[in-house]
Amino acid sequence: MKSPLIVALDYADTAAALAMAELLDPRQCRVKVGKELFTASGPKVIEQLQNRGFEVFLDLKFHDIPQTVAKACQVAARLGVWMLNVHASGGKAMLEAAREAVDGVTASGHQPLLIAVTVLTSLDADALGQLGVHDSVKLQVERLAALSAEAGLDGLVCSAQEASRLKQLHPEFCLVTPGIRPAQHGADDQRRTMTPGAALAAGSDYLVIGRPITAAPDPAEALSALLAACAG
Ligand code: C5P
Repeated sequence: MKSPLIVALDYADTAAALAMAELLDPRQCRVKVGKELFTASGPKVIEQLQNRGFEVFLDLKFHDIPQTVAKACQVAARLGVWMLNVHASGGKAMLEAAREAVDGVTASGHQPLLIAVTVLTSLDADALGQLGVHDSVKLQVERLAALSAEAGLDGLVCSAQEASRLKQLHPEFCLVTPGIRPAQHGADDQRRTMTPGAALAAGSDYLVIGRPITAAPDPAEALSALLAACAG
């Protein structure tokens, strides 16, 4: 599947998520199941989406002691998800344990991609300072990216603004970028947005898009238009 688009199914119940999935073409996108939908619906919704032909990015951002994260990642991998993620700030031992736990699990015919979140985009330099991190956000992102690379992860969730630098530092990494908005679309509550074409040109491999598709009057048309914008 060539599409770089991942549609965020940010819903509080299974019925709403599946109703949206019905409008989307699994040949045009993958879907993301995050904390809200997973907490409401559990693993069943992953299976239901897979049965409709979708590959699933399970966005639970695990962060705990190494053994707990490793076990959770292994269970997630056995659900046959296409991609899952952890927080790089959980530390190298946690990242390595996650890596080892996912290796060799091929429930869907291939091993899931294991990626890391570096610094949440909701945190600025002041917020990092409150956590005792007095380096710039950029430096902390690069430090956690290097740690993720050392632990053998497959990629990172990053903002489009960070993508070109991270691709330069870690060309082997798969970069997944939220905060994408079509040229004519408003920003919603996202602060720094980029168009699909600009994000891909900056080095992003996959684009996570929610409301520009899910809140569009015609989600299928919005998805097709975004895919066309990626190609052009
Ligand atoms: O609707 P929208 O396109 O803003 O949705 C973006 C999705 O990406 C949401 O699921 C959101 O939680 C997620 N996300 C984000 N910014 C990050 C990390 C994840 O918007 N830094």
